[in-house]
Amino acid sequence: MQSLRRLENKLAVITGAASGIGRAIAIRYAAEGAHVVIADIRDLPKEGGDPTADVILAAGGSAVFQHTDISKWDNIDATISDAVKAHGRLDILVNNAATYNGLRCHNTPEDLWDMVMDVNLKGAYLCTKRAIQQMLTQDIHSETRGRIVNISSQHGMVSAPSDFAYGVSKAGIVYMTRQIASDYAADNIVCNAVAPGKILTGAPDIPTTPEALAYPKARTPMPRLGKPDDVASAAVFLASDEASYMTGVNLTVDGGWSAA
Ligand SMILES: NC(=O)c1ccc[n+]([C@@H]2O[C@H](COP(=O)([O-])OP(=O)(O)OC[C@H]3O[C@@H](n4cnc5c(N)ncnc54)[C@H](O)[C@@H]3O)[C@@H](O)[C@H]2O)c1
Repeated sequence: MQSLRRLENKLAVITGAASGIGRAIAIRYAAEGAHVVIADIRDLPKEGGDPTADVILAAGGSAVFQHTDISKWDNIDATISDAVKAHGRLDILVNNAATYNGLRCHNTPEDLWDMVMDVNLKGAYLCTKRAIQQMLTQDIHSETRGRIVNISSQHGMVSAPSDFAYGVSKAGIVYMTRQIASDYAADNIVCNAVAPGKILTGAPDIPTTPEALAYPKARTPMPRLGKPDDVASAAVFLASDEASYMTGVNLTVDGGWSAA
């Protein structure tokens, strides 16, 4: 993928960037010239390979891993404060980290509901809150004080079969995108989302048997399922100055899933 250096010298904090889609976003942001903070509870990618920061540094980019549990305010506060101390401002927050439990409503225990909500919704709220506190103190560069990119899901708009808490949390992210966009537009802080469809990340906890992929294949009009880089391309665009006069958008990258 050709880099146009669209994020030159921008500071980006990306949650869940050790693995999967977040990792692809981090690698693409760094190739576009951003300094990247990988905010995750693990360093090694779930799907295997070298840590994201090592891959970026080896390619000549700028990245640091910061152990961060996004469900804990103290962790997020420390990560964003350290990043701003090192780079002077926070240009981009990507709310990507998420978890799931694969259960329907009637057999979702309270603790597993809480676990999904603590990461997917409360974590995104805490990261967004801390990022906006910082962005409000910053000067306007290229029409914005800062950009927030949420990774939602097609399952924020249509139901997630047998994954009740996850789907509800993703609908919350779609809503949060609009609410933050409208509340902070006058402050020149923009907030948009990317809604992926089925993305093959290679994570070992996600089955890829023909039976497991039958449903997403049947729902996806395009003749293949998604790659992490498909989502990263949209996340680069929404973090860049090219995404001018856009806020509150939930951009689908789903091979047509939500159009069909
Ligand atoms: N893969 C798909 O098909 C798909 C489809 C639609 C939406 N999405 C969304 O894309 C995003 C990334 O998905 P993925 O498939 O790459 O996930 P993944 O499970 O491969 O990676 C998630 C990363 O988040 C990290 N994480 C988990 N809990 C955390 C916490 N408390 N604090 C910080 N980091 C934490 C994990 O350690 C991991 O590195 C998620 O928001 C997911 O809902 C994925």
